[in-house]
Amino acid sequence: MDDAQELLGRGQDIAQLRADLDQYSILLIGPRRIGKTELLKRLVSHPGRGWRAVRVDLEGLDAIDGAVNRIAAKLAEAGLGPNAVGDALERIREVSVGPVGLSREGREDPGPWARLEQAIAVALHALPNDERLALLLDEVPWWLDSLRQAGDDAQARQALAQLRYLRDPKGQTPRLRMVLTGSVALAGLARSLNASAEINDLLPIELGPLDAAAGRTLFEEELLRRGIHCTAEAAKAAHKMAGGSPHWIKLLAQRIQGTTRAEASDVNDAVQRLMSPRLRHLFDDEGRAHLLRRHGPERGARLRWMLTAAAGHDDGVPAQALLAVALSEAGLVRAEAQEDLYTLVDEFYLEEVDGRYRFVNPLLRRWWLKYGSLP
Ligand SMILES: Nc1ncnc2c1ncn2[C@@H]1O[C@H](COP(=O)(O)OP(=O)(O)OP(=O)(O)O)[C@@H](O)[C@H]1O
Ligand SMILES: [Mg+2]
Repeated sequence: MDDAQELLGRGQDIAQLRADLDQYSILLIGPRRIGKTELLKRLVSHPGRGWRAVRVDLEGLDAIDGAVNRIAAKLAEAGLGPNAVGDALERIREVSVGPVGLSREGREDPGPWARLEQAIAVALHALPNDERLALLLDEVPWWLDSLRQAGDDAQARQALAQLRYLRDPKGQTPRLRMVLTGSVALAGLARSLNASAEINDLLPIELGPLDAAAGRTLFEEELLRRGIHCTAEAAKAAHKMAGGSPHWIKLLAQRIQGTTRAEASDVNDAVQRLMSPRLRHLFDDEGRAHLLRRHGPERGARLRWMLTAAAGHDDGVPAQALLAVALSEAGLVRAEAQEDLYTLVDEFYLEEVDGRYRFVNPLLRRWWLKYGSLP
């Protein structure tokens, strides 16, 4: 992507994010592959006046230590490590550590959290006085999930509490803001950890689909790279079929074949090609892996049946129909079925329009009809 250009279709989102960061730390939410990571990268390259932004991807880490090391390394890479402050380091070493001891399961080893607090203190010291630090933490929920799997919920709760403590030092003007995001809804995860309070200081910002003009432009640009022109109808059809998701728009553009001027029917052909068994893996993450990994085999299977029921109709189905699917499982009570439905909306599989629940992305719905109920 051309660095000098604004990120396509995201000018307003970035302006909003920069403005809100002035006052708040942020919880950035949005569907899979909608462009959250891309937005964070843009903030790193163009943070705006008075800001330095550092992005850290926490995916693949299953311990506190690993995350702390990665954050410290990224700060150092950005020129905000111990080398940048020299002698001042000794004074910074005095920093205290936050609510580690408050963990319900008793006092944990304060080592990594103390190191993180120190690394942040060093970074803030290395920054010019008139600059603030935006620490952009990507894939936070996957990391918390790994902590849960590796140990118990207490570790994940503690991580949320510590991050909150770090961005919210009592009685100081914070020079640190955080943006937390990931491909899974953090709010639902925090709720299941009984730790919602640890993120209630974050301002939620939802990144939506590209608007129609940006979606069409992206499709046209992707085709032009391959010397293919397209009609306005074709670009419109692609944007609609992809639900405005840049990722799916690009995938559709890649599958346009055998023409130098794409029409709407070529977009339909591209959709058919994307549904080929050979390309099934392109959707497997959303279609299967995600639900099983997040919710385990039993609930994961139930959520998949509900999605299969919703996929049957273009306009979706009423809540009752989906609740009935969940409740057909022996022993499930209505509140749990309702929670399942909320989860599918929270995780951006379904949206509610006029009392009906439908897929947010028509392309994924097509895929689901074909493969969703297969093992
Ligand atoms: N504004 C945009 N213009 C062009 N391409 C974009 C834009 N936003 C995202 N993309 C592309 O879409 C794909 C998905 O973007 P990205 O990885 O940022 O999404 P995400 O929301 O972080 O996904 P996940 O939920 O999986 O973490 C990438 O290939 C990215 O380059
Ligand atoms: Mg991402």
